[in-house]
Amino acid sequence: MLANLNDILPKARKFGYAVGAFNTSNLEITQGIIETAESMRSPVIVATSEKAITYAGIENISQIIITLAKKAKIPVVLHLDHGSSYEICRACIHHGYTSVMIDASRLAFKENVKVTKKVVGYAHQHKVSVEAEIGRLAGIEDEVKVLKHEAIYTDPDQARRFAVESGCDALAIAIGTSHGAYKYKGKAQLRIDILEEIAEQVNLPLVLHGASGVKSKWIDHVNRFGGALEHTKGVPDTLIKQAVRHGIAKINTDTDLRIAFTAGIREYLSRHRDEFDPRAIIDHARDMIARVVDDRIRVFGSINRA
Ligand code: G3H
Ligand code: 13P
Ligand code: ZN
Repeated sequence: MLANLNDILPKARKFGYAVGAFNTSNLEITQGIIETAESMRSPVIVATSEKAITYAGIENISQIIITLAKKAKIPVVLHLDHGSSYEICRACIHHGYTSVMIDASRLAFKENVKVTKKVVGYAHQHKVSVEAEIGRLAGIEDEVKVLKHEAIYTDPDQARRFAVESGCDALAIAIGTSHGAYKYKGKAQLRIDILEEIAEQVNLPLVLHGASGVKSKWIDHVNRFGGALEHTKGVPDTLIKQAVRHGIAKINTDTDLRIAFTAGIREYLSRHRDEFDPRAIIDHARDMIARVVDDRIRVFGSINRA
């Protein structure tokens, strides 16, 4: 069934687990996400970035997700990831999104509050939930590009003021993660001390972006079948679990899905050199998506919470 963030995240924060938000841009990734979450009786958030929307077409991708969500016996949120403007949020709401993220974290505090408030006003009229962001993660995503040296941790006091003034339903914070496969030069770490302070001041569900694990076994899987991916450091499961214990209720994963999808395609093609039916090839990639989603749901603790 279709749901919004308010149907699932306050419960998650209260009972100490997190719900996964998984990025998609096609039918098979979406099926891998929703079917796995349903088999584990976990709520799930299916997210599309602006780039994914441009790639697939807003009507096509939203209808695929809505159709699968309505059939599922678990709460499924159709969410815009990192919306860069009021206009894109509005367009998504028109196409049936049940949730949007307005990411104005690149702007000054006041401007961020202003645009977030405007999105909240419109979204709430349509029973759509809103995630916003305060603080800046390093990395590149769509329209929102942040260089490593520009990334800043979320200030707890600002987070409290932002939550009250903007009226958002969930708040993404920066505590040391970054988007993509290249997250840490040295040891992987999260500022749990900052998270603790934020969680004390802000009663909203908190969101962790850039949370992929980038596990060695997946990099090896890709490389065993002809890939040339570098071994990099993601966020270890132990840190994810610690973050969940301290108030993180929504966790975003994209990179891990991309790597697993690639592993599936590479493996299938190299094992079946005479295959040219796209359905057989992509079916295997869909199975790899399912494995990642299964693993993440167990780490987040949302199994049997639907
Ligand atoms: O942060 C979210 C996604 O990883 C964005 O990736 O803009 O290439 O779809 P994308
Ligand atoms: P990763 O790149 O770590 O998967 O993060 C994805 C994300 O935050 C999407 O919003
Ligand atoms: Zn993100």
